[in-house]
Amino acid sequence: MRQKVIAGNWKMNKVMTEAEDFVIEAGKHIPADENVEAIVCAPFPFLPALVEKTKNTRLKIAAQTMHYEENGAYTGEVSPLMLKNIGVTHVVLGHSERRQYYNETDETVNQKAIAAFKHGLTPIVCVGETLEEREANKTKDVVTEQVQKALTDLTPDQVAQTIVAYEPIWAIGTGKTASSADANEVCSHIRNVIKDVTDKSVSEQVVIQYGGSVKPANIDELLSQSDIDGALVGGASLEVDSFLKLVEAGTK
Ligand code: 13P
Repeated sequence: MRQKVIAGNWKMNKVMTEAEDFVIEAGKHIPADENVEAIVCAPFPFLPALVEKTKNTRLKIAAQTMHYEENGAYTGEVSPLMLKNIGVTHVVLGHSERRQYYNETDETVNQKAIAAFKHGLTPIVCVGETLEEREANKTKDVVTEQVQKALTDLTPDQVAQTIVAYEPIWAIGTGKTASSADANEVCSHIRNVIKDVTDKSVSEQVVIQYGGSVKPANIDELLSQSDIDGALVGGASLEVDSFLKLVEAGTK
C-alpha cells in the first residue's frame, strides 16, 4: 500500500515565531502511523530552526524551491547541497506559482529533480493545467508533457521515490476544488504516463498528491479515490488544527 503524504505549502506566509510555534505544536500530534507522512514546506529563512524543532517528531521539513547547481554565482539562490546539509528532506519543484512568476520550466524542473536525488532530497514535482487548457480539453496532454519531461533521465528507483502533485491551476487558492472523480481521473492518467516511461511496478509505487483548495471538509473524499495518495495544501495548512485534521485524514 502506498503511504499517504500530506504536505502543507505555506508559500510566503508567517514570521519565524509563528513558524516555530506551529511546528512545535503540530510535531507533538502527528499520528505515529507509518502509513501517513506529514510535511511542512516552509520559506528558506525558517528551515534550519524548523528542522531543529522537529528533530524528535515525525514532521518533515521541505523547501519550496531550489537551484539545480550545488554552488556558484547565482545571487539569491539556494542549492540542494545547502538544503541537505541542514536536514531538509523534501523540496517542492515546479509549483505553478514558480512556473508563472519565476520562469520555472519543465527543463529546469527536470534538472532540479536530478539534483535533488543526487543530494538525497525527495522532490515533490507539481504539474497541472490552466483553466483555458482544461476548457480546451488539453488537461491530459499538458500533464503528460510535464510529467514526462520532469522525470527524464531519472532511474526507475528515483521515479518510484518521486512525489507528483497534481495541482490544477484554476483550483489553487480559488475555493474551487476539482471534483474527486475528475482529480482522480487525472491522477490515474499521471500513473499511466509514469508506467509508460518506466513500468507498472514503478508506477504503482509513486505517491500522487492532489492540490487545490484542499481542506478538512473535502480531504476524506479526495483520499478515498484510487489514485490520490495525499494532498499538497496551501491555505488550509496555515493553522495547526486544520493541518492536523488533514494529516489525520491520511490515517483512515
Ligand atoms: P490552496 O490549498 O490554498 O488552494 O493552494 C494549493 C497549492 O498551491 C499548494 O501548493
